[in-house]
Amino acid sequence: MKLADMKAIVTGGASGLGEATVRRIVEQGGQVAIFDLNKEKAQKLIEELGEEQVFYIQTDVSDANQVEQNVRQAVERFGSVNAAINCAGIGTPGKVVSKTGPMPLEQFEKVIRINLVGSFNVIRVAAAAMQKNTPNEDGERGIIISTASVAAYEGQIGQAAYSASKGGIVSMTLPIAREFARDGIRVMAIAPGLMKTPMFDGLPEAAVESLSASVPFPARLGKPSEYAQLVESIAENAMLNGEVIRLDGAIRMQPR
Ligand SMILES: NC(=O)c1ccc[n+]([C@@H]2O[C@H](COP(=O)([O-])OP(=O)(O)OC[C@H]3O[C@@H](n4cnc5c(N)ncnc54)[C@H](O)[C@@H]3O)[C@@H](O)[C@H]2O)c1
Repeated sequence: MKLADMKAIVTGGASGLGEATVRRIVEQGGQVAIFDLNKEKAQKLIEELGEEQVFYIQTDVSDANQVEQNVRQAVERFGSVNAAINCAGIGTPGKVVSKTGPMPLEQFEKVIRINLVGSFNVIRVAAAAMQKNTPNEDGERGIIISTASVAAYEGQIGQAAYSASKGGIVSMTLPIAREFARDGIRVMAIAPGLMKTPMFDGLPEAAVESLSASVPFPARLGKPSEYAQLVESIAENAMLNGEVIRLDGAIRMQPR
């Protein structure tokens, strides 16, 4: 699928990896509905990109009703939806047992709820809409790309909740791809390493340098545009399905 033909939902599209993906789809001539909590940032982006190809619907991806309503709205606006790219996520760290005692259970549940349940929520509703599409010349009705993390494989101390949420995304990619094979809907995930997004904005330069040095090659943080470039490659290559691709400069995270 060409980005020019995309009628996409991009969650987390107001910032970082999602924002870069929105920019790339719009540049290539596709259309995007941004599902994000951050109204202010989304509106700024739309002011810059123009309202012709992109619109914003304030959405909490972990809310079943909101996602059902808002996917319906995207379908009404574009006529159909043929791509869902899950970039919404949070990274709240926390030890299982810290000086103040065991991690509050709600903290663990929140990360799972937004990162894993939220991604599944968008997949289930968007896929139901995609099943109604007329297939393109490759027999495709749609594509779903979720964002895992290298923390799914090498989570650090303090990442139990985050790693579990991303591990869930890794594990559900194949069974969902198998389920939707007969519909011509591909299901993929990207597992980024260290990407230079607003997540790193507060870090001192020395910390960024030391993180960069931990990447074998290239020894720097990944650019959000490199994530968007991979989204485009996955979309264009109809043989990619049911797989998680690491985008990480060969980094293997250490325990801390
Ligand atoms: N930046 C990295 O190094 C890195 C590495 C691996 C994985 N990731 C993953 O990539 C994804 C994007 O991260 P990023 O670095 O671009 O972060 P970011 O904070 O720049 O963007 C995340 C976006 O998600 C939105 N969001 C958060 N909770 C939401 C909810 N409940 N409903 C809707 N929107 C919500 C935020 O408003 C924000 O706009 C996340 O899933 C993150 O875990 C990032």
